[in-house]
Amino acid sequence: MAKHFKRTLVTAALPYANGPVHIGHLAGCYLPSDIYVRYLRSKGEDVVFVCGSDEHGVPITIKAKKEGITPQQVVDKYHKIMGDAFKEFGISFDIYSRTSNKTHHQTASDFFKTLYEKGSFTEQVTEQYYDEEAKQFLADRYITGECPKCANPNAYGDQCEKCGSSLSPTDLKNPKSALSGSAPVLKQTKNWFLPLDKLQPKIADYLSKHSDWKPTVYGQCKSWLESGDGLQPRAMTRDLDWGVPVPVKDAEGKVLYVWFDAPIGYISATKELMPDKWEHYWKSEDTRLIHFIGKDNIVFHCIIFPAMLMEHGGYILPDNVPANEFLNLEGDKISTSRNWAVWLHEYLLDFKDRQDVLRYTLCANAPESKDNDFTWKDFQTKNNSELADILGNFINRVMVLTNKNHNGLVPEASEYTKTDLLALEEVAKAPDKISEAIEKFKFREALAEMMNLARIGNKYLADQEPWKLIKTDEKRVRTIMNVSLQIAANLAIVCEPFIPFTSRKLFSLLNLQPMKWSSARNTNNIAAGHKVSDQSAILFTKIEDADVQIQLDKLVNAKKENAAANASLPEAKTETSFDDFGKMDIRVGTILEAERVPKTDKLLKLKIDTGIDKRTVVSGIAEWYKPEDIIGQQVCILANLAPRKIKGIESQGMILMAENLQGELSFVSPTKLNINNGSVVK
Ligand code: 2FM
Ligand code: ZN
Repeated sequence: MAKHFKRTLVTAALPYANGPVHIGHLAGCYLPSDIYVRYLRSKGEDVVFVCGSDEHGVPITIKAKKEGITPQQVVDKYHKIMGDAFKEFGISFDIYSRTSNKTHHQTASDFFKTLYEKGSFTEQVTEQYYDEEAKQFLADRYITGECPKCANPNAYGDQCEKCGSSLSPTDLKNPKSALSGSAPVLKQTKNWFLPLDKLQPKIADYLSKHSDWKPTVYGQCKSWLESGDGLQPRAMTRDLDWGVPVPVKDAEGKVLYVWFDAPIGYISATKELMPDKWEHYWKSEDTRLIHFIGKDNIVFHCIIFPAMLMEHGGYILPDNVPANEFLNLEGDKISTSRNWAVWLHEYLLDFKDRQDVLRYTLCANAPESKDNDFTWKDFQTKNNSELADILGNFINRVMVLTNKNHNGLVPEASEYTKTDLLALEEVAKAPDKISEAIEKFKFREALAEMMNLARIGNKYLADQEPWKLIKTDEKRVRTIMNVSLQIAANLAIVCEPFIPFTSRKLFSLLNLQPMKWSSARNTNNIAAGHKVSDQSAILFTKIEDADVQIQLDKLVNAKKENAAANASLPEAKTETSFDDFGKMDIRVGTILEAERVPKTDKLLKLKIDTGIDKRTVVSGIAEWYKPEDIIGQQVCILANLAPRKIKGIESQGMILMAENLQGELSFVSPTKLNINNGSVVK
C-alpha cells in the first residue's frame, strides 16, 4: 500500500539567473509544479512550494562577461525579472529565494563541512584544463568540445545537451576554451570529489525502491548506473572565483561546484521561509519530497543530490522526480542564444491578461513523456476552439440567461429528468478523475478531464435550449439553469490549478467565495436564490490570425538576425586589373518610371535616364523598394552590360546595389546634387 505522508515539500528547479524566463521553462517545470501544488492546497493538504534563482556557476560568469557587468549585477538583474515573470503567470511559490543570499551561503557551506568532516570526500590532485590566455581553470561550461558519446560538437564540460550525458571536461574531444576560444592546456589542481563509484550500491538500492517513477526518469537513472563502469567520482569544488567559498583549509580561490550548492538551495529557501519549522519538511519521514525539473537535470536530482543527502544523514530523500522532456517552438529547439523562444515578459505585452491561455496551451501540450512542440497556430486553436468556444461559451450563456430570465437569482430546481441526473452524475465524477491524473503527474490528461466538464455543461445547455423553452415551460427552465449553475460552480473549483486567473473571475461572476476541491464532488454548491454578478461574462476573446502572424513574424526576424549574426562577409575576391575595371561603363542615372513586373515578387521594371539615353532595366529590388517611392531617385547603372531578357522584358543594364549580411539591398547614389545624369563612376 502506498505510504501515507503528512505533508509535501515541492521544489521547482532553481533557474540560472542569467536570462528571462521562456515558455520552455514554464512548460517543463514551473507550470506542472504549480498545478500540482495548487491542487494539493485545494485539497487542504500541508504543502510547501519552494524555488529561487540559481546564482552561481559558469552560466552566470559567462553572462557577466558577455554583458560587461559583474556576476552580482547579472544575478540582481535577472533574479528580479524572473521572479516577476513567475508571479505574473501565477506560479504560486511560497518563496522565491536566491542562492547568493547569506542563509544559502551558510547552509551550503555547513553542508560541505559536514561531509568533509565525515570523510565523505576524496581529496585529489588532478590535471584540469586551463586557459593560459585568460589565466583561468576551465570548469563546466567554460569549456566546449565534441561529446564522446554522441559526437555533438558543442557539448559542455559538464554535460552534453544533445544526448543528456553528464561529462567531465577531460571527456571532451577537441576541447576549446569558451573564454578565449584557444585550445586549453592541462594543469594540476586539488579538488574534493564525491566518490559516487563507492556510493553506487546505496544509490542503486534507493533507486530500486522508485521503479514507479516516470519511465523516462527511471530509465535514465538505470542507464547511468549500468552503462560502462557505472558511476564515477565527481568533483564538488571548482577553481573559480564566483560561488560559495570552499570552507576548508588550503582551498583559496576555490568555490563549491554549482551543482553541489544549487540543490541545497531548496533547503536554504525552506529555512528562510520557515526558520522554526523547516526541519519538519526536510527531516521527517512523514514528508514527501518532490522535485519538479527538466530532463537535463535528472542526474543531479536522482543521483548526486540523494547521494549528498545520504552522506550527510538526517535528511529525507526525494520521493519522486517528475522530470519533463523538452518543449520545442515551431519545430525547432528553444534557444536563448538564437532568440528562438517566447519570452514570458514579451508575451504579456502582446497578450495582456491572457496568462491562462498560455498556461492552458502549455499544459495541453506538456512534454510529459516525449519532447513536444508549441506552435502559435495551435495556441490560437486552443484559445478559440476550446477556451472560448467551450468553457467561455458555456459560462457566458449561463450568466446571460440567469440575469436575463431570472433577475440574476439562481433558480430553484424541481423535478430532474434522466438527462439532468446523468449530467449531474458525470459532474460529480469529474474531480476524482482529475485528481487521479494529477496524482500520477499526468497533467495533460487532468486538463482534458477538466475541459470535459465544460464540454458536458456546454452540451447540456445546447441540448436543453432553455432560451427557447422559456416561452413555454418556465418551470423546466428553472431546473435546467440550476443544473447549469452547479456545473459552472464546480468548474470554478476544478479549473483553479490549471487556469487560476479564470477560476478567480468565475468565482467572482458567480459571486461565490473560492471553494475547496472536495466541494466539487457535490452538485449543490450554489444555492437557489443566490444572486450572481451581472458583470460581462466573457472569459476569453478570440485570437485573430493577425495576432498570430505578429508572433510568427517575430520568429522569422529572430531567424534572420541569427543568420546575420552567424553570417560572415563574403570572402575577398581575387585581384583584378585596372584595365578590366575600366571596361565597365558605370553612369549615374535617374529613375523616371517604375512598376512591378506582373506575377513576380521581386522584380521592378524601371525606365532610367542615363544621360546618354532613356532605357529599360529590370531589377530585383521589389522586396526593398516600392515603385512609387523611387521615382526621381538617382542610381548608378552598369550601362554597357549586354542586354538580356528577364520575364520577357529586355533589360538594358544593371543598377548597382549594396547588400548587407541580412540580404537587404540599397541603391548606391551620389551624395552631391550636381552629379548629373551621365556622370561617369570610376
Ligand atoms: O538547469 C538549471 O537551470 C539549473 N540552474 C537547475 C538547478 S536545480 C537545483 F538543483 F537547484
Ligand atoms: Zn552527447
